[in-house]
Amino acid sequence: MKNYDELTGMMDTLSMVTKKELERLCSSKLGEDYFKSLIDSMKYSVFAGGKAIRPYLVYEFSAASDECDSYIEGCESYAAAVELIHTFSLIHDDLPAMDDDDMRRGKPSNHIVFGEATAILAGDALSLLAMYACASNRQLSPLQNCDAVECLSYYAGKEGMIGGQQLDLDGEKNQLTREKLDLMNSLKTGALIAAACELGCIAGKANEAKKIAAKGYGYYIGRAFQVVDDILDIEGNSAELGKNTGSDLNNNKSTYVSLLGLDGAKQFAIELTENAKKCLDVFPGSKVKQRLLLLADYLLDRKK
Ligand code: IPE
Ligand code: IPE
Ligand code: MG
Ligand code: MG
Ligand code: MG
Repeated sequence: MKNYDELTGMMDTLSMVTKKELERLCSSKLGEDYFKSLIDSMKYSVFAGGKAIRPYLVYEFSAASDECDSYIEGCESYAAAVELIHTFSLIHDDLPAMDDDDMRRGKPSNHIVFGEATAILAGDALSLLAMYACASNRQLSPLQNCDAVECLSYYAGKEGMIGGQQLDLDGEKNQLTREKLDLMNSLKTGALIAAACELGCIAGKANEAKKIAAKGYGYYIGRAFQVVDDILDIEGNSAELGKNTGSDLNNNKSTYVSLLGLDGAKQFAIELTENAKKCLDVFPGSKVKQRLLLLADYLLDRKK
């Protein structure tokens, strides 16, 4: 196993930056007790301790685009925005009408604590807060903010995460074909991770070649991420993962494990990871690039 200490140290440092921005965005201008249950429900999931992989990618690609060693000032709101969309997707994903899971990020799922109706509203509010975060950024230009909103709304929507979630539900009735499974995987998980990479490129004013490469990397690590998630749903440790294992079997999901078996899925995750790393060839050698190469392996080796 590789040594990931430096990488995880950087991820921890940057997740504190994101947390500060999320606190600013989740506060209520009308006073904390005005919509207490809604704000509490939003904060409950946002600050439950996710891995914050997606915001991390925003920071690193902003630096890689600009060929400097630290992230572009002002990209914090883009980083927070992608985490808000991701958290919204998880709250809705756990609802009884979807995966019906009662544990998330090591705590009872949002709807278990706040009830289904408030959990739905919290998810809705988080998705719109993400757009607000990008559009109201005063440190980056209006054109960059417009590109950020376009990117995030597209990759989260019908041609992205939400579209992928629909295919995931369709796959409960019948085993999806390989083609449909690849599409589902790219959309439900790949798209938002690719969007995070693109948001970093927007903040760092990357040229077109870098943008395409960053998105390619994002899609490949994102697809590998979901394959590993499918594997961990069978082999993982629920306490370590902070969510129930066996959820996919309970829901009769079409996954890479159900199609290819555990060994086939593991092999496929390795291939996707290698393809992701090749996408970074267009970026000049730097510490940031080294970390992004290592991140691909880290996500493959992860146990949570
Ligand atoms: C879980 O995502 C959902 C998938 C897309 C597989 P993460 O594993 O990134 O969840 P958190 O944010 O760390 O809780
Ligand atoms: C969810 O996939 C992907 C999302 C877009 C939320 P899963 O349903 O496998 O994610 P977990 O395992 O519940 O985190
Ligand atoms: Mg799901
Ligand atoms: Mg789920
Ligand atoms: Mg899963």
